[in-house]
Formats: sequence, structure tokens, C-alpha cells
Amino acid sequence: MQFKRLADVDVRGKRVFIRADLNVPQDAAGNVTDDTRIRASLPAIRDALSRGAAVMLTSHLGRPTEGKLTPTDSLAPIAAHLSALLGKPVTLVQDWVDGGAWLAALKPGEVVLLENCRVNVGEKKDSDELARKMARLCDVYVNDAFGTAHRAEATTHGIAKYAPVACAGPLMAAELDALGRALADPARPLVAIVAGSKVSTKLTVLRSLLAKVDTLLVGGGIANTFILAAGGKIGSSLAEVELVGEAKAILADFPGKVPLPIDAVTAKEFKATAQPTLKAIENIEPDDLILDLGPTSVAAVRMILAKAGTIVWNGPVGVFEFDAFAAGTKAVGEAIATSPAFSIAGGGDTLAAIAKFGLAERIGYISTGGGAFLEFLEGKTLPAVAILATRA
Ligand code: 3PG
Repeated sequence: MQFKRLADVDVRGKRVFIRADLNVPQDAAGNVTDDTRIRASLPAIRDALSRGAAVMLTSHLGRPTEGKLTPTDSLAPIAAHLSALLGKPVTLVQDWVDGGAWLAALKPGEVVLLENCRVNVGEKKDSDELARKMARLCDVYVNDAFGTAHRAEATTHGIAKYAPVACAGPLMAAELDALGRALADPARPLVAIVAGSKVSTKLTVLRSLLAKVDTLLVGGGIANTFILAAGGKIGSSLAEVELVGEAKAILADFPGKVPLPIDAVTAKEFKATAQPTLKAIENIEPDDLILDLGPTSVAAVRMILAKAGTIVWNGPVGVFEFDAFAAGTKAVGEAIATSPAFSIAGGGDTLAAIAKFGLAERIGYISTGGGAFLEFLEGKTLPAVAILATRA
């Protein structure tokens, strides 16, 4: 797909609107626990600033309710982190959609961070009215948010229709180039690990993913939904009961392609200090929470990964943020790192796990996209990329 790139656009003295994906994990106090996505967004910002652009940057954080900014939705911790990385002030601007004083004050060589774009009414539905307003703020629109490229939202799609110039940032371009090359003709067997707590958006991509991969390993909330579908027990664990029917149909349509966990590390409560108890899936009790993959399941996963030609990893298999429930994710990560297969990993929580376990050097390619790269792997056209191609 052909699109314009930031490097080819003259931005001197122009107002440049950069949509980045700064959706990074934070701890309970709001500290950024993995800044991979922020660091990956720096080249676009630095390039525009160094060429004399006035830069306005925005991102979503989490999935807030539109029209309501709560303290946990704010990009304030990200503004502080970014300012430290850039070595210059990054002012956070609230209520920015209609421009005003902040826009008049923005000078070439300066950067402001526009508050969580998903708080703006109409963002998720790709509102044309919102998109037109945002387009009026800038001369050049840059989409560098590969991680959100699978979403047609007002800052990832609508604005690109109306901004005077719409182009891809260096991160977006690099991700598309690298993933395109890696997944065009992957060495077989191609094994995908899809796990984590964001269940429904991932379950819907599994069917088309299964047509591409040789084995699909599931973990986290997705695995729980499949365990229920296979008639197993999950106690009070995270799952999507309304999707059990679809999970059942997937298991029936792709026999043998989705091996399920046989044991788990459980607890009676969701907290770091909870007592971990190893159980076979058949012995899970109604008040148990599955918080990690058990060692027998890990051993089975290891064997599959050792024989893989290509591995795609999206999502931790347990609550790795709690040390007592981190062993499964660590072991799976190590197995990916030591496998001779070419490995591709991505997704916010996956990046945090890779950083925590020091795996980065031994993963073939690390993508800032989670859902976006799964959809790319499915062969889908990402709406944020498609609109850039139209504008080119
Ligand atoms: C991600 O974390 O995968 C991206 O930032 C997209 O987030 P979303 O799934 O909330 O759209």
C-alpha cells in the first residue's frame, strides 16, 4: 500500500498533528511501567520539531467513557515522561478540540500533548464533525499510531480525510514494512499465542487467524472462555460467557489446532499477596481464580514452540505483574526467546512482560501493535492505513 511519509513532507513553520499510540501500562500510582511505545514515538516528534514544526501530539489511554475525563484517564503521567525523554517541556492541553489560546501560543519547535483523545465525544464512532474540527487545527496530520491502526476512530481515520496533508509517521511506516516482510511467507509451522485480559476483541479475530496459523495457543481470559467451551472448569475466573458458543464452534471447526491448558495456578483473590495453588483444570473450585498457566501446560507449550518456524506472541498467559503468578508468562517468553523460530511479539502488556523478563534482545521483531498486528496477520486492511493510502 502506498502512502505519504512524514520524511517527505515539508513541515517548516507548519502545525503538525501527530496521532501516536501512547497507551502504556501504569502502576496503581500512575507511574509508567513500560515506556516502549513512548520511546518508539520519539523519532516522529523529534523529526518534526527539528525541521521547525509546531507539534501537537495526542493518543488514547485505556478505554474511557466519552465526555468524562477522570484522573486515571489523563495523559498527565505520559506528558511528564515524554518531557523527560525529549529534554524539553511538554504542556498537557485539556479541551483542545476547538483550538483557542493554546493553539495561538504554539510556536515552531514546541510540542504540546493533547489530552486523551478518546474522551472527546465522537472519537470512537469516527464522528465526521469531530474529525473536521480536529483537521482544522493543523496543516499536516501524521499517523504514527500503528498500535491503533485497526481502529477507525476520529483521530486515526476521520481526521485523515480532512487534514490538508495526511501522512504516516516513521513508526507506522517501519511497522508495516517489517511485519509485511516477516509475515508474507512465514516459515512453518506458524504458531500464534493469543492471550491477555482483553478478551472479546481478540476472540473475534481468532477464526480468521486460525485459517493462517498451524497452532493457536490461548492464555488468560481467552483460554478461560475456551476451557468453558470444552466443558472444563474455571471457577470465578475472567471469561466471556456470551462468547462460549463461538469458542465451541471454533474448537469444532479447527480440531486439534487449539490445545487448551490442563493445569493452572489459582488463588482465591486477585492480589499480589494471594496464596498461589496449583490445580488441574478438572479440580478448579467455584471460588478459584485462574491467575497463571500451570507447569504441565507450560511444558506442552514449550514443546510446540521448540518445533515452530515462526512464532507470533500477543498477550501474557498469566497475571505476570504479580510475582507469584508470573512463572507461566516468564517460561513461555523464555521458550519463545530460545526457540530457533523467527519470533514476532507485540501488544502493550506483552511489551511490559518482555521488558520485565529481559527478553527483548532475543525476540526477532517487537511490534508496538497488539490487536493491530493480529489483524495485520489476519490479512485485514487496517482502516488507518487505508485512509492514508487514499490520501496519497
Ligand atoms: C493496544 O493497546 O492494543 C492499542 O493501544 C489499542 O487499544 P484498544 O484495544 O483499546 O483500541
